[in-house]
Amino acid sequence: MIGMDEKLSFFKNGVRLDGRRPDELRPIKIEVGVLARADGSCYMEMGDNKVIAAVYGPREVHPRHLQEATRAIVRYRYNMASFSVEERKRPGPDRRSNEVSKVSREALEPVILTSYFPKSVVDVFVEVLQADAGTRTAGINAASVALADAGIPMKSLISSCAAGKVDGEIVLDPMKIEDNLGEADVPIAMTPNGDITLLQMDGRLTPEEFRKALTMAKAGCEQIYEIQRKVLVDRYSSMDEPESCDEVEGLSEEEI
Ligand code: CDP
Repeated sequence: MIGMDEKLSFFKNGVRLDGRRPDELRPIKIEVGVLARADGSCYMEMGDNKVIAAVYGPREVHPRHLQEATRAIVRYRYNMASFSVEERKRPGPDRRSNEVSKVSREALEPVILTSYFPKSVVDVFVEVLQADAGTRTAGINAASVALADAGIPMKSLISSCAAGKVDGEIVLDPMKIEDNLGEADVPIAMTPNGDITLLQMDGRLTPEEFRKALTMAKAGCEQIYEIQRKVLVDRYSSMDEPESCDEVEGLSEEEI
């Protein structure tokens, strides 16, 4: 606990409280296809954030009046488990989760080829199991991988992370203490080409600081993209089609 007159220093010999350099991401872990009932799913850790994303669809829209004649609609529900934060979160949607759901949907929708599936819906559910700042970005990363796992046609993956300002310094991927006590937080999401699909800002930055934060967050997204891509390639290359019929045990050639 820090006393009123004590000032917490966010840097020690140039490194952050968790040992990271200012431009370093937290450790990332991604698992694909973790839920049997979902069409696509992903478990992701970004530092101490733990999230799970489940994708269902394209499927029939209920209620029917939400149907669009020429494209699929995308729904995104971000939910924080009541045990995911220090102070128990009241279960159910609130202003914050509605906002996060909306901006996260808007971050992913531009890459989903919705015109392929008229009158249907792609449902994305993100459950935050453990929160440590950056849950919207972790959720978007996990959802992007889960959409790919579900086989939803997309122009590209989406990668997301934030940059912030603490002790007057721009840092990548702020953790909870930096986010809470820091001066600014800029979460972004982008395509591998660098097209931004989410840009928010909490706090204040000078134009120069903002440019630095944006450049840093974009570099972070590039690193996350490589991890997302590798996880998907590894998963699907290990599920390769058999090279010859002989490789499928117990089935005759006709059955194959
Ligand atoms: O998680 P994210 O950074 O996307 O969103 P935020 O609204 O900036 O929240 C930052 C952090 O505050 C969350 O990741 C949680 O660790 C924490 N928080 C909390 O403790 N209780 C809440 N009801 C909401 C957020």
